[in-house]
Amino acid sequence: MARDTSAFTRLSVLPVAGALGAEIRGLDLSKPLDDTAFAELRQAWLQYHVVFLRDQKMAPGNMEDVARRFGDLAITSYTNPVPGHKFVHMNVRPAEAPRGSRNYGDFWHIDQTTREIPTGGFLLYAQMIPPYGGDTGFANIGLAYDMLSPGMQALCDRLVCVHTPAGVYGDGSGSGGKRPFRLPGSDKAYTISDETLGQYLKKETLHPLVIEHPITGRKGIYYTPYANRFVDMTEAESKPILDYLAGHIVRPEFTCRLRWEVGSLAIIDNNAMQHFAYQDYHGHRREMLRCEFSGTVRPFGPAMPRPESRAAAE
Ligand code: SIN
Repeated sequence: MARDTSAFTRLSVLPVAGALGAEIRGLDLSKPLDDTAFAELRQAWLQYHVVFLRDQKMAPGNMEDVARRFGDLAITSYTNPVPGHKFVHMNVRPAEAPRGSRNYGDFWHIDQTTREIPTGGFLLYAQMIPPYGGDTGFANIGLAYDMLSPGMQALCDRLVCVHTPAGVYGDGSGSGGKRPFRLPGSDKAYTISDETLGQYLKKETLHPLVIEHPITGRKGIYYTPYANRFVDMTEAESKPILDYLAGHIVRPEFTCRLRWEVGSLAIIDNNAMQHFAYQDYHGHRREMLRCEFSGTVRPFGPAMPRPESRAAAE
């Protein structure tokens, strides 16, 4: 990660960890950003992969305005939208949620890799936070790739993963196991119908194990628990490599962790990291607003070239 922050003139950039993450100071995102300020914000986002802004007063419409500067607004959430704002979804864990029950995003993951074009990134805004806990973790998949041995990089470069919801969703028994699609005691937490769910669980999508970031070109390990096996390998053969990568990517030195305050906003690059919603605030309510922007291209990398070049080669 480039640590030089001297190029920024309209905002202050304070890296929060060696791996990724920076706090941005000097911007009020409830007001329109001029092009120079936005260009610096986007540059910091690309450089640090996730940026945090404190003390923001974001209405849902402000979140849509900011997200729209990063890309087309997208709906890829299964949670309920805020009335009047179909692109802004509310993620709530109620105080009454039973201890140990799962919540939205409580596993290390990249968003929506079961889609051909996963989301490009998203804004997350803290509306109500517990008195302790409820942090979000982030892990730098580019740094994790850089720190593999050359032999392991060469192996990973050649592999294509089969991503399927069945890699993540199951009967939900036991903490740490596959998560239930409907959270216990809160049937309405997800908005997908049973029929759609049935189809969804069968879906398979191929992505290269190593991607090149669509804007910066940086290589990263595109592993998330949706990646169930490699093409031309069995699940049993794939599992040891996938398990190794799962542990490697989230080594503490590749991560940072955000302690939320009411009014904190994070802008997240979904092509550069995994993230994890910590669930350690039993008996307290947490309310986040979330607004996504689209990816622009299917993930590509050494094992699956960029779609245009694939078409040109055919
Ligand atoms: C998620 O986007 O996976 C949830 C993040 C969070 O609520 O901290």
